[in-house]
Amino acid sequence: MTRRIPEPFRIKMVESIKQTTREYRIQALAEAGNNPFLLRSEDVYIDLLTDSGTGAMSDKQWSGMMLGDEAYAGSKSFFKLEAAVRDIFEYKHVIPTHQGRGAEQILFPALLDRRREIKNVTQPVFISNYHFDTTAAHVELTGSQAINVVIPEAKDTKAYHPFKGNFDLVKLEQTILEHGADNVVAIIVTVTCNSVGGQPVAMDNIIETAKIAVKYDIPVVMDSARYCENAWFIKQRDEKFKDWTIPAIIKEMYRHADILTMSAKKDPLVNIGGLCCIKEREDLFKAVQVRCIPFEGFITYGGLSGRDMEALAVGLYEGMDEEYLNYRIGQVEYLGAKLLEAGIPIQYPTGGHAVFVDAARLLPHIPGHEFPAHALANQLYIEGGIRGVEIGSLLLGRDPATKEQKLSAFELLRLTIPRRVYTNDHMDYIVDSFKEVLKNINQIKGLTFTYEPPILRHFTAHLEYIK
Ligand code: F0G
Repeated sequence: MTRRIPEPFRIKMVESIKQTTREYRIQALAEAGNNPFLLRSEDVYIDLLTDSGTGAMSDKQWSGMMLGDEAYAGSKSFFKLEAAVRDIFEYKHVIPTHQGRGAEQILFPALLDRRREIKNVTQPVFISNYHFDTTAAHVELTGSQAINVVIPEAKDTKAYHPFKGNFDLVKLEQTILEHGADNVVAIIVTVTCNSVGGQPVAMDNIIETAKIAVKYDIPVVMDSARYCENAWFIKQRDEKFKDWTIPAIIKEMYRHADILTMSAKKDPLVNIGGLCCIKEREDLFKAVQVRCIPFEGFITYGGLSGRDMEALAVGLYEGMDEEYLNYRIGQVEYLGAKLLEAGIPIQYPTGGHAVFVDAARLLPHIPGHEFPAHALANQLYIEGGIRGVEIGSLLLGRDPATKEQKLSAFELLRLTIPRRVYTNDHMDYIVDSFKEVLKNINQIKGLTFTYEPPILRHFTAHLEYIK
C-alpha cells in the first residue's frame, strides 16, 4: 500500500522550473562530461541531488531573518541559537559553523590533540556506523583512519530491518580491541545513517554503543544532520517510545553522547549553517573555539550571518514537528513504494531523506568499475530531467596504495528529497520517468573516465560511454 499524507502547509511563493526536451538534455549532459554534478541546475526539472540546503524555509524562518543582529561579536541572534540548542539537546557549549564539514574541521583535530594528552595514541582511528564522505575526509586529514561498523543487514537492500543504521556492537568492540582503545579518538554515531540509505539508529543501539564507549573511555560524537528523522523512526518502530514526543526522544538520544556536529542544512530546514556543540567538557570547548576563529570565524558567528542564526534557531524546532515529519518521511516512503510497485529494486525499507535505487540489481550487465548507478542517473536525467546521485564505486574511488578501484558493497542511485519543495505529483512524475528508463534498461551502457581527478573524483570527473 502506498501512503499519501498531504502537505501540512500551503505554498506561499513559487519558483518556475524550466521544461526541457530529451534532445536538449542529451546535449546538456554531454557538455557536462556525462556527470550530472556538472549540469546547471536550471537545466534540471526535479533536482534530487541532495536534501542539503535545498529545503524551503517557512514564513516564521523568513520573518526571523529580519531580526538578525549582524554583529561580529556577541550577536543577540547567537544567544537565541544557543538557547535553542541548550533547550533541545541540553548541551552547554554551542559553536555555530558555516555547515557540517566546518564543525568537523574544527572538532576532529582538537579531539585528537586532547586524546594525545591523556592516552598513548600511536595509530589513531575514528569508528562510526558509517562515516559520511566529508566526515571520513576530515578524519583522514588528521592522519587517522575512518572505520565503519554498520550491521551487515544494511548492505542487503532486500532484507527488512527496522534500524539498518545500527552499529554492529560485536564488531565495534572487536575493532576497539584490535586497534587499542587509546587509539580510538571518537565513536561517531551518524543519525540517520546517510550512506546506507538514511536508515535510523535504534535507541537501544545508541545506548549500547555509548556503554562500550564509556567502558573504553572514548568520546561519542553524534553526527546530527537528520536527528529529527531518526527520532521519528524510533517513535514509529520501537514500542517503548510510541507515546513519547519527538523532543523527548531527541533529548534521550543526546543524553548518551558527549558532542554533536551538525549540518543544519538538512533537518533544521536552513539553506546554510552548522553546529559544533559540547555537552560539558570545558577543555575541549576551549580547544575547538581556538580552531573556530581562523577556520570558521569568531566564536559567536562561525561563518554565519545573524539572520542565518535566527533562521536556524527557528528551524531546529520546526524540524521536530511530528505532523511535518509524518508528511516528510511519508513522502519518501510514498515514492519508494511506487517505485517498488513498478519493479524498481530499492533499499528497503526506505529511509528518512531519500530513496536509494539498487542499480547493481537493475543493471547486472554493467560491472561496478563501469559505474552502473551513475549510468542509471544519466538515463533518468535524459528521460525525465531528474537529477539523482551515484553512491557506489564512483564515489568510493581507488585504493590510495594500489590505485585499484576499491570494491564497493553497493551500487546505489540516491534520489534525495528536498524538504517542503516538491509535491506528490512530482513523485508520480519521477516514477513515470523510471518506467521510461525501464523500457530500454538492457541497452544502457557503462562509463569510463576521460578526466579523473585524484581525490573526490565523482564531483568533477568527465566520463564517456563504453562502446
Ligand atoms: N554528515 C552527514 C551525515 C551528512 O549527510 C553531511 C552532508 C555532512 C555530515 C556534511 O555536512 O554538507 O553541511 O558540510 N551531506 C550532504 C548530502 C552533502 O548530500 O548528503 P555539510
